[in-house]
Amino acid sequence: MIVERQSDRCLVQAPAKVNLHLEVLGKRDDGYHELETVLVTVSLFDTLELRQHAAGLVLECTNPRLGTGSDNLVARAVELVRGESGRSDGLAVKLTKQIPIQAGLGGGSSDAAAMLVALDQWWNLRWSTERLTELGARLGSDVPFFFHAPAAVARGRGERVVACPLGTTLHLVLVCPPLGLSTAKVFRNVLMPAEPVAVGPMLAALAGGDVAEIGRCLHNRLQTPATALCPPLAELCQSAAAWDCLGALMTGSGSAFFALCENADKAQRLAQTIRSRNVGNVFVVRSCT
Ligand code: C5P
Repeated sequence: MIVERQSDRCLVQAPAKVNLHLEVLGKRDDGYHELETVLVTVSLFDTLELRQHAAGLVLECTNPRLGTGSDNLVARAVELVRGESGRSDGLAVKLTKQIPIQAGLGGGSSDAAAMLVALDQWWNLRWSTERLTELGARLGSDVPFFFHAPAAVARGRGERVVACPLGTTLHLVLVCPPLGLSTAKVFRNVLMPAEPVAVGPMLAALAGGDVAEIGRCLHNRLQTPATALCPPLAELCQSAAAWDCLGALMTGSGSAFFALCENADKAQRLAQTIRSRNVGNVFVVRSCT
């Protein structure tokens, strides 16, 4: 999380994430699923700008599809920090969205994590990563990961996070079709695997920086239910099989896909080809450092 603190404002960049591996290990009594997932932050960012305000919270967002009321994850993060810290200072927040919403790119979760980090700095709270992680988990399953970026394995509901080594820079093309999928619905339709795919080979490939092996290890258990629920996504998935890359996969619960490429040039070339097919927004990104 990149924080730039000035006298009258604080700027934070909130990165998108992709899941290189996502396995569902079981259904829990609380309705959530037990997961094992490997996540990496990538160079597509929302920006949060904080300023002092007379009272309350004024939240402004550049994406009109996103509500700015009390259920916005950024507003919930502010409420949470206020409750925990006892601070009640007024705040004006401008959220500049670049990360597509409902795409499985973790935009809302990253914004929430960025808000926690920004307020920790803005109000000199000096909270530990453990505390931020615990608070983040109250806001959403993907939030804790962002305190352990750029690469980590998350388990449980997503709240047990361990950073993992990333031995190389990953070059990716993100393809974001104009389709929003409900995370809850995708999870409801997942079939529990008889034999879960182990995370070890992906972690070893990441640590060793073996991009071709990372491509071979890509796995997302949620891709099958998501494409079954959404025929246009199944079409995208089919065309992804022909992309000139080391591997392509849906991220999170969808609807975005990513292609892993050997280098930046190949990613640019593939992006051009995909753009000519008008399947959605296409971004060339790299893993964050
Ligand atoms: O935690 P979050 O609000 O992001 O999760 C959204 C929905 O995704 C949950 O309500 C749940 O239906 C599903 N989910 C799940 N298991 C997880 C994470 C999310 O079933 N580990």
